[in-house]
Amino acid sequence: MARITAGIGCSHVPALGVASDFDKEEEPYWKPIFDGFEWTRKWESEEARPDVVILVYNDHASAFDMNLIPTFAIGCAERYSPADEGWGPRKVPDVEGHPDLAWHIAQSLILDEFDMTIINEMDVDHGLTVPLSMMFGKPDKWPVKVVPLAVNVVTYPPPSGNRCWALGEAIRRAVDSFPEDLNVQIWGTGGMSHQLQGPRAGLINREWDNGFLDKLIGSTDELRRIQHIEYLRETGSEGIEMVMWLIMRGALGKTTRCLHRHYHVPASNTAIGHIVLEPE
Ligand code: DHB
Ligand code: FE
Repeated sequence: MARITAGIGCSHVPALGVASDFDKEEEPYWKPIFDGFEWTRKWESEEARPDVVILVYNDHASAFDMNLIPTFAIGCAERYSPADEGWGPRKVPDVEGHPDLAWHIAQSLILDEFDMTIINEMDVDHGLTVPLSMMFGKPDKWPVKVVPLAVNVVTYPPPSGNRCWALGEAIRRAVDSFPEDLNVQIWGTGGMSHQLQGPRAGLINREWDNGFLDKLIGSTDELRRIQHIEYLRETGSEGIEMVMWLIMRGALGKTTRCLHRHYHVPASNTAIGHIVLEPE
């Protein structure tokens, strides 16, 4: 049987992709961030060794734009290429999909009354490729297959945190009913506090972010009741990306245990948060 064995939350700041691609990991500005992922990289390659990652992320007007805005979309393709975000595609490996698992999850979610958009062709931007770089470094081939799960957090109205948590619960049911033996992880990406535009650009809220990390651990489900206005007020206009972490959290079940946790400011305009959780 397929099983979700762990969940990871992490930020996806595009400049981290640049730092990785141009070998800047040891530079003083970037080092504390990459050091914060060392534990996870070792754990992924030596212990966890997942077959597939359900990678919950948001597209930033690379695959979708104002012509088409799916709230929740699942990638069922064989492979995905890195998107050209203005400087040419990142020179990282193509991302291999898992169409059988993805179609199974799509069917299970839709029959479970989540009206998913199905994607059969798309390029993937920093929202998906930066977390892969942070977790796996610079391999010739990514060591996992990926089921991309894209969430609209770019254009109002994004889904509620509560709906995201419930989607996570439904994803767990979907994975549990896939007959093949697969070690599956789910990642929630984006965040933490950041605002990229307007008079509050550069806003960071360490206290709020760390409270959010605290409440991902254990059995509280308090986070699912945070309203959009609180993300906006406390974490800046782009802090809403954190609802995607709640899909990950919802998929881990009632109680979680924390294996690793890291928080660092600054990284471009964003607070870097990173947490590794196991279902208990
Ligand atoms: C930054 C952060 C993001 O989440 C993003 O999508 C783009 C830029 C930043 O901090 O630079
Ligand atoms: Fe973003």
